[in-house]
Amino acid sequence: MCGIVGIIEKNSSVSPLIHEALKRLEYRGYDSAGIATIHQNSICIKKDKGKIDEIHQKLDLDSLPGRIGIGHTRWATHGLPSKINAHPHLDCTKKIAVVHNGIIENFLELREDLERRHRFESETDTEVIPHLIEEIILKTRCDLYTATRKALQKIRGTYAIVVIYVEEPNVLVCARNESPLVIGIGKNANYCASDITALLPFTKKIALLNDGEIAAINYDKIHVETINGEVVVKPEIYDISWSPEMAQKGGYPHFMLKEIHEQPHALTGTLLIRPEIIDQVARALNDSKKLYITAAGTSNHAGLAGKYMFSKLSALQSQAIISSEFQESTTNLIDQDTTILAISQSGETADTLNAVRFAKNNGAKIISVTNVMGSTISRLSDLTLYTQAGPEIGVAATKTFIVQLASLALISLQIAEIRGVLESREVDQLREGLMQTPKIVEKTLKKEESLVRDIAYEYAYKPNFLFLGRGISTTTAMEGSLKLKEIAYIHSEAYPAGESKHGPIALIEPGFPVVFITPPDETHEKIIGNIMEVKARGAKIISIAEQNDHDIKKLSDKIISIPPTPTPFSPITYIVPLQLLAYYIATKRGFDPDKPRNLAKSVTVL
Ligand code: AGP
Repeated sequence: MCGIVGIIEKNSSVSPLIHEALKRLEYRGYDSAGIATIHQNSICIKKDKGKIDEIHQKLDLDSLPGRIGIGHTRWATHGLPSKINAHPHLDCTKKIAVVHNGIIENFLELREDLERRHRFESETDTEVIPHLIEEIILKTRCDLYTATRKALQKIRGTYAIVVIYVEEPNVLVCARNESPLVIGIGKNANYCASDITALLPFTKKIALLNDGEIAAINYDKIHVETINGEVVVKPEIYDISWSPEMAQKGGYPHFMLKEIHEQPHALTGTLLIRPEIIDQVARALNDSKKLYITAAGTSNHAGLAGKYMFSKLSALQSQAIISSEFQESTTNLIDQDTTILAISQSGETADTLNAVRFAKNNGAKIISVTNVMGSTISRLSDLTLYTQAGPEIGVAATKTFIVQLASLALISLQIAEIRGVLESREVDQLREGLMQTPKIVEKTLKKEESLVRDIAYEYAYKPNFLFLGRGISTTTAMEGSLKLKEIAYIHSEAYPAGESKHGPIALIEPGFPVVFITPPDETHEKIIGNIMEVKARGAKIISIAEQNDHDIKKLSDKIISIPPTPTPFSPITYIVPLQLLAYYIATKRGFDPDKPRNLAKSVTVL
């Protein structure tokens, strides 16, 4: 993960801008950070362990002089979080500074060789880059751009890097291979960063860099080539519609809470995706002979829900496979008759990209659902559907989850119509119901938030939770459980409720909280039996049920009510109280839900 940024300005000092961009990238990693600029023929550098605000308080990051600079916020891979391991990293002459996101796979062998002639300071894989560049410049007297390209030709692994060199204070050199990097085009200034949100305060004109490309960025021009082939590339330029405010907290204490409250709006935007696009995706999926859905984390839960929707509404067979297991699970199964539906809010998750590349190399067609325009996944895909959640900054995915569900709902209804599985009248009714989900989420937030907060405060210090659902609600249970684990650090498990009697029920003892997701679908009767089973063993029952569900109410210690939702779409509305539950438990316990320990928003390592 890690966030990187580079800025070159014609007239003004860049360190406050790099600082601002780093704040916006902090969700990508927050164990250490640093900035380096060039001023009066030397590199000026400030870096330390900790979050950016803490480092700024200590070191005043904005005071670094210079019109060109680079910055980094770290999620440690090689070497503990420490001042020495924080980026930027320098060469022996202290004239070259590098920031890097990714993993250099052959760094040990490169380092072993370089150590004979160079002095290394950190334990990072990154540090080989400045020393390699230094050596190439020394040997061949070439410029920074050429030296960086030659250095990258020796490197195996994933990277997005930005490099500056004291002898060439008018150019930033950046390159990418399987780690995200975009270029921002400004007025008398140009930029590069790990993602678009970092650059929103400065420009909305974004040029996309592809894997295997390197760019020389001056304040008034940009030159892009391939790292290996020396082919000059004309980058695609996009005008971004996101505003800088969309990536700010807007009065909420945390991004996560703001993003939970943005869900009605995000849903509305997504439900208005042009019908032609939904139709194109639906036809491509319908034409597939073998359909695999693949994704990681929360997106995987959306994918699993998608599988239920495809089966239930569209009578379309699909298999959902978590991305990190995709290759092993499908060895010898992928060919030209295969279609992959890959789901990733960021479009940059290494596991998902790896699955996609594997499938693509074996001839599969790739359809993706992502929230980020121009992301790597969209560039690997034959067809992309963009969800309309706006930027999501909180590490815990919330609004991007429900827009993924809404997109899958739209697609499954369209397939149902194409295949004639449902009558047009039924499809229209379900579509009408789906269109109500923004209102239902809004009502739920208004009516239930304080109740959920009270429940959260009462149960905040329970050491374990169990989340149970049946059918499509199993996926809601899985997502509710993941939210609790990742931001409140409470051990929790999610299971299909019918499976609990095959093992997990052994965990139940008096007072153990079990969260049931109980929409009034075909599973309702059976789940009542499952509630009784754990209740008989002393569990505390917290249910998410449709309003006026008296049967569930009678059995529950706490009940959170949801207005009627068309049943195959229940995860869209039933997940909302579970997001709030995790949020309020995390904050009650004093944790920052936007920056959970050990996690990063975009997981760009395998
Ligand atoms: C969600 O709360 C997590 N932070 C994580 O599981 C995430 O969903 C996963 O890493 C996949 O991300 P993506 O959607 O950007 O591919």
